Amino acid sequence: MPDIRNIVILTGAGISAESGLATFRGPDGLWEGHRVEDVCTPEALARNPALVHRFYDERRAKLTEVTPNAAHAALAELDRAWPGELLIVTQNVDDLHERAGANRMLHMHGELMSALCAACGTSKPWHDALPPETPCPFCNAPALRPDIVFFGEMPYEMDRIDAALRDADLFVSIGTSGAVYPAAGFVQTARHIGARTLELNLDSSAGSIYFDETRTGPASVLVPDWVKEVLQL
Ligand code: APR
Repeated sequence: MPDIRNIVILTGAGISAESGLATFRGPDGLWEGHRVEDVCTPEALARNPALVHRFYDERRAKLTEVTPNAAHAALAELDRAWPGELLIVTQNVDDLHERAGANRMLHMHGELMSALCAACGTSKPWHDALPPETPCPFCNAPALRPDIVFFGEMPYEMDRIDAALRDADLFVSIGTSGAVYPAAGFVQTARHIGARTLELNLDSSAGSIYFDETRTGPASVLVPDWVKEVLQL
């Protein structure tokens, strides 16, 4: 393996599947049971806030029933042990990476365990149900909403992600279908700057053609094996 110093890792719903959290596009995926237009757009929130808040309340409550799996644990170990730059960019809104001990990470699509004020833009940790029109503790407007990046909204920390990708020697994509941009385009940015690219997924994905290598299998097996390999570099 050529000299690897800086690693960017993109994770998707597949890394949390073995913890018992539904993915979006697989069999009985979340988008099988709900239309994106009904629960994951600003228009949906304006049209039916009770439905949207309830959808995220149910997913937030589910987090108390699940635990990180071996893939989350392996990435947290890599985060602790890796001497170079490392950034875990997760599309997931669950808190399993943090609970496994990961630090050098960010949630580009927001977090279930956070509430955002639509009036003043402040967010705060939130672990319980979040009814519509909950007053913001900072500005008092009845405007707290789930801190989730809806379709049509700008993902979080894109500047930080772009900077990390520009310096990457290795880009690893884990458990994502490559269906949603801008995340689906990160592999092409990585290739463009000359980084090696590796995909770890249960099956090949829409983006597999862009990767130097795709390994198929469950994340709980592939990720610990890969972390062992990269720590022996
Ligand atoms: N191990 C590894 N990969 C898995 C596993 C597993 N045990 N189970 C499923 N996968 C893979 C599937 O093969 C699929 O490629 O995880 C991927 C899940 O794809 P999606 O359900 O589309 O989830 P994701 O790619 O994270 O979706 C991206 O779309 O709806 C938006 O904001 C939402 O962040 C989400 C984004």
